[in-house]
Amino acid sequence: MKNILIAPSILSADFANLSRDISVVENAGADWLHIDVMDGHFVPNITIGPVVVKSIKKCSKMFFDVHLMITNPEKYWESFYKAGADLIVFHAEVDCDKKELIKNIKKAGIKAGISIKPKTPVKDIVELLPLVDVVLVMTVEPGFGGQSFMHDMVGKISELRKLIDENKYSCLVEVDGGINFDTAKICIDAGVDVLVSGSFIFSAENPKETIKILRSKI
Ligand code: DX5
Ligand code: ZN
Repeated sequence: MKNILIAPSILSADFANLSRDISVVENAGADWLHIDVMDGHFVPNITIGPVVVKSIKKCSKMFFDVHLMITNPEKYWESFYKAGADLIVFHAEVDCDKKELIKNIKKAGIKAGISIKPKTPVKDIVELLPLVDVVLVMTVEPGFGGQSFMHDMVGKISELRKLIDENKYSCLVEVDGGINFDTAKICIDAGVDVLVSGSFIFSAENPKETIKILRSKI
């Protein structure tokens, strides 16, 4: 059975106790730390900037998965790279030279990923699949934590799994939004590799047990 990676989203952490909450999920066995960057333009919310990423890099050894929900990733990715991002994921819906951006991110020595919002079909990113390390399927409209999983997105995960396996691409499929025990199992069955989970993990009484169950598809 393949190893499912768990990426808690710090959007649901207590920002007054960020380093404590990061340690909690790190000690609970999380693999990646998912960091939601929003600019109030691409999505109707504003969250974390590079200054925060730089600060929390000092208190964690986890792999930093930076999800850029911003209109101009080509302008800002480098400051997140310098702040300690290990993976930069940007959105397919933005207007920039995506191949060039992927090339630049990878040239810096970190991983690059592409994400699709619920209304964006897989066909829009097919030509990028051989170039990226991660493809992130949004299962909620990006902008806020705590929303309900959109079940009609599961077909995209299966479609991507098939394309990646048939063509022997090396990218991982990540899913983001509304992940709990039930929806995690559905996504794992559809072929996902990385589960982002915010409110479910951060509100859990026992994060270690929660992470264990999420990855085990029980
Ligand atoms: C939504 C963010 C998600 C969010 C997930 O725009 O990209 O990463 O924090 O939160 P939950 O797991 O609560 O849906
Ligand atoms: Zn996210």
